[in-house]
Amino acid sequence: MEFHDIYLLYRRELERVEQLLDERAHAEHSDLAKAGRTLLEAGGKRIRPLFALICGLGERAWSEDVAKVAAALEMIHMATLVHDDVIDRADLRRGKPTVRKSYGNLAAMYTGDYLFARAIQLLAEVDNLAVHRLMARGIVLLCEGEIEQIEDFYNWSQGVMTYLRRIHRKTALLISLSCQLGAMVGGAQEREVAALARFGHAAGMAFQIVDDLLDFTGAAEIVGKPVGGDLRQGNLTLPALLAASRPELGQRLRALVREGMPDEDAEEAIRLVVASGALAEAERLAERYLEKSRHLLGAVTREAVREQLMGLTSFIIRRRY
Ligand code: IPE
Ligand code: IPE
Ligand code: MG
Ligand code: MG
Repeated sequence: MEFHDIYLLYRRELERVEQLLDERAHAEHSDLAKAGRTLLEAGGKRIRPLFALICGLGERAWSEDVAKVAAALEMIHMATLVHDDVIDRADLRRGKPTVRKSYGNLAAMYTGDYLFARAIQLLAEVDNLAVHRLMARGIVLLCEGEIEQIEDFYNWSQGVMTYLRRIHRKTALLISLSCQLGAMVGGAQEREVAALARFGHAAGMAFQIVDDLLDFTGAAEIVGKPVGGDLRQGNLTLPALLAASRPELGQRLRALVREGMPDEDAEEAIRLVVASGALAEAERLAERYLEKSRHLLGAVTREAVREQLMGLTSFIIRRRY
């Protein structure tokens, strides 16, 4: 099943999520209101709400609580993007200027905090203690992942395991939660909820590896955010770490990528990573995570849910945005 078809299948539910986002991300203060609105209207894939809706509804009847969980997940995601763009000094997000670019870092800090708070407020309407415990734990770990990323800028002594631990926290967890909480609130059986959480984790790991690949191979007009920035700012992702382990090329790469490096060094470093063959190796690891995620779907009894999630896993590896 294609991404677009899955999207159409959940058109009405996604519209309700949009409505919730529109109502709840709303702010009276004019700067906050404008900043939030630009980001909302710029779109985004809404893949976390989609995961939550599929796992929570499948072929079951409508549930307002699942829609609330889906919208809260997207708001938390948006909050992390606004903050991430401050950390990464990024100027483009979803094809539009970032909040930090338009309004400055200060405004971006409180816009992110505001979105976080609004997400919690919306989630509080869902009467399920386990949901709140899991979400709170997820947000703590996500923040730790982003902090670790800052600490590990330019740190060439980190290995692939450190990278995997970081993306587990900063990305895979929220995607795992999207599946787990969607299923939980939608009333799925405990065994299925657990399987979907593990599925989301594996799919989320692949999702971030592909995002890191797109930073090397993508085009800014299509991905809607700057490319080539990770190495430039010292964010050592899987392709860079794999290339660094190549005997001679690795040594050259490590010498080039350092704080305050001139632009031509950054460009040479990017060329070295591409020439090293590390991109194909990273893609294979993403593919392995996706195979694992498909295998985990075996424990899901609802056939439609299995099929739709399978469709999303194919999208993850092929995506260009
Ligand atoms: C971007 O997430 C940040 C990562 C975790 C890679 P998405 O690729 O889902 O961004 P949007 O929501 O579509 O803009
Ligand atoms: C994922 O990391 C960001 C968050 C978890 C918020 P990236 O820094 O790779 O995300 P993009 O590429 O800016 O979307
Ligand atoms: Mg970023
Ligand atoms: Mg990225």
